Amino acid sequence: MIYIKSAQEIEMIRRSGRLASLTLDYVGSIIKVGQTTKELDKLTHDFIVGHKATPATLGYKGFPGSCCVSINEEVVHAIPGPRVIQEGDIVKVDVTTILDGFFGDTARTFLMEPVSSQARHLVETTRKSMYLAIQTVRHGSRVGDIGAAIQGCVEKEGFSVVQNFVGHGVGIKFHELPNIPHYGKAGTGFRLKNGMVFTIEPMINAGDWRVKILADNWTAVTQDGQLSAQFEHTLAVTPEGCEILTLS
Ligand code: MF3
Ligand code: CO
Ligand code: CO
Repeated sequence: MIYIKSAQEIEMIRRSGRLASLTLDYVGSIIKVGQTTKELDKLTHDFIVGHKATPATLGYKGFPGSCCVSINEEVVHAIPGPRVIQEGDIVKVDVTTILDGFFGDTARTFLMEPVSSQARHLVETTRKSMYLAIQTVRHGSRVGDIGAAIQGCVEKEGFSVVQNFVGHGVGIKFHELPNIPHYGKAGTGFRLKNGMVFTIEPMINAGDWRVKILADNWTAVTQDGQLSAQFEHTLAVTPEGCEILTLS
């Protein structure tokens, strides 16, 4: 069952989402070459806790980080650790906050300049695909419209959509229904309804879409070792469109 949120619940998710977005603004201001992902995680942890919130990932199914920090060929869910951020890297940081019991989930890809033109193009295309998908969302539109928008945008550039991970309902719990694939056919799938809250979080690969999971049982990497980018927002469906709840 897809839980429909009340206006009051959406306000609480908006507050949490705003903090998650503010956390990524903070990450953008302190992330630097030479830093380990563990150091970045500690700063992120202290920022979230300093705002009277909890990092949702910490202890989630045993995940040991306050955020996911996935570099280059790492697609998602990389555990913060000794890997050092290098010039030319693209670094995906995914933050989920719990504020007064409500969840906000958002991710961005940071460019450690100077980066290759391919890396920049991949990241910009990924960002664009997410916003094109967001523009399809309104009461009565279909879930397939989201995936089709993303797929159309990125495949035109020769990139591919990761299929193993999907967007998800969020707000009261970390992962709720519905699942939101980032690929699909316009005009197909269930209809979105006013008050649904979910993420759109396309993971886009420069090469093949397939991923594998490392021995740590968390880190997803591209099978072909090529780059991957991601952006994520939490959205609420409205009669006219949708509201992005993870804005700072
Ligand atoms: N924030 C991720 C998402 O967008 C989930 C991370 S779960 C973790 O759904 F355990 F890997 F942190
Ligand atoms: Co998510
Ligand atoms: Co996330």
